[in-house]
Amino acid sequence: MDKLVIEGGRRLEGEVRISGAKNAALPILCAALLTREPLTLTNLPDLNDIRTMLGLLAQMGVKVEHAGNAVTLDAAGLDTPVAPYELVKTMRAAILVLGPLTARCGEARVSLPGGCAIGARPVDQHIKGLQAMGGEVAVEHGYIHARVARLKGARLFTDMVTVTGTENLMMAACLADGETVIENAAREPEVVDLAQCLNAMGARISGAGTDVVRIQGVERLHGATHRIMPDRIETGTFLCAAAVTGGKVRLTGTSTGLLDALVDKLMDAGCEITGEKSPSHEAILIEAPRRLKAVSIRTAPYPAFPTDMQAQFMAVNTVAEGTAVIRETIFENRFMHAVELIRLGADIKIDGNTAFVTGVERLQGATVMATDLRASASLVIAGLVAEGETHVERIYHLDRGYEHIENKLTALGAVIRRVKA
Ligand code: UD1
Repeated sequence: MDKLVIEGGRRLEGEVRISGAKNAALPILCAALLTREPLTLTNLPDLNDIRTMLGLLAQMGVKVEHAGNAVTLDAAGLDTPVAPYELVKTMRAAILVLGPLTARCGEARVSLPGGCAIGARPVDQHIKGLQAMGGEVAVEHGYIHARVARLKGARLFTDMVTVTGTENLMMAACLADGETVIENAAREPEVVDLAQCLNAMGARISGAGTDVVRIQGVERLHGATHRIMPDRIETGTFLCAAAVTGGKVRLTGTSTGLLDALVDKLMDAGCEITGEKSPSHEAILIEAPRRLKAVSIRTAPYPAFPTDMQAQFMAVNTVAEGTAVIRETIFENRFMHAVELIRLGADIKIDGNTAFVTGVERLQGATVMATDLRASASLVIAGLVAEGETHVERIYHLDRGYEHIENKLTALGAVIRRVKA
């Protein structure tokens, strides 16, 4: 297995381009299943999760044509509405084919995702929503089997805010008979990006970005071209990397409006952050002080502080002045990076879903192990400020969600290299 070797202590400086958002691209790729006409997507990130999703769609009979960071999907020949266990177990987002397949084919067989390192993560809300729309949904032999002649519009209420749940039901409702209203919907920008793509395909969705989304079902959707939004979690990760090294970095192709909660916290920590916006480009400039102040956070659904930035922000706090309290409210087991950060010399105490992080003067390089995608990013951030060499093992997690991270960091002056297994 590949690993990253980082020599800490370099201040990050320069410019980095932010890629398209993984979590917007994954549902939008699935939206191609809803139509017989080609869907072209641009600004697609080059990531393992994207390749996995494209492989899954191809296996179902979708034609996939790549040209640089654009892809055209043609689902006219869709003939196998099945997502097998082997794929779903490596990438939970494969559950996003359930809604579109049921709506378009009247049938879907999708493996249950099972648990993952950060928690149990059930998909009961996805199933409950399809049932409320008239779908016959059974869980048999580890697979969700959905059948229906045509889904019917319905009033749906999810028990908790679920991002992929909202996306799955929104896609299913596009081809349903009548109006669907999703209450308690996720307000994440990726939900909005998906709705914009679906509307460009002829869907009639309003309210995306609020907690009530209305979808007027249509008979069919058509082809379209859509640009994937910038990755706000990659943006946030680079902001944290710049902050922790006392750096000065310009992030292009992204905007501060996508992550106000994190920007506020980094400013509280002492960073100066400004957004640049013109019709032709968007960028963020961050300038960090020599030492940051500790800042407490509590994760919650958008627009609050994202759980996908909690690990990276914990890494920032490990070397800040003072003590920060970090509360994780979305996933029950999302502090696995803490024990690895402690191996680098961090002072962290965990009590249930709360971590108390007292900043130390400096971390020391060591060998650490990545346990999930965002945990891996937090170890890289810590490695950038640790004294000496940090070896981050099991970086296949990182390759699922960060495009060429070591090249981008190298361009900013970090000393980081990939060692092939
Ligand atoms: C999405 C993101 C992930 C992010 C998460 C929370 C994608 C591809 N992934 O994951 O990066 O960390 O949102 O912002 O967009 N839940 C249930 N039953 C359900 C659905 C969810 O109990 O049917 C629970 C989950 O276990 C979790 C919470 O609801 O505790 C939120 O999960 P959810 O928003 O669904 O996460 P994902 O959509 O899987």
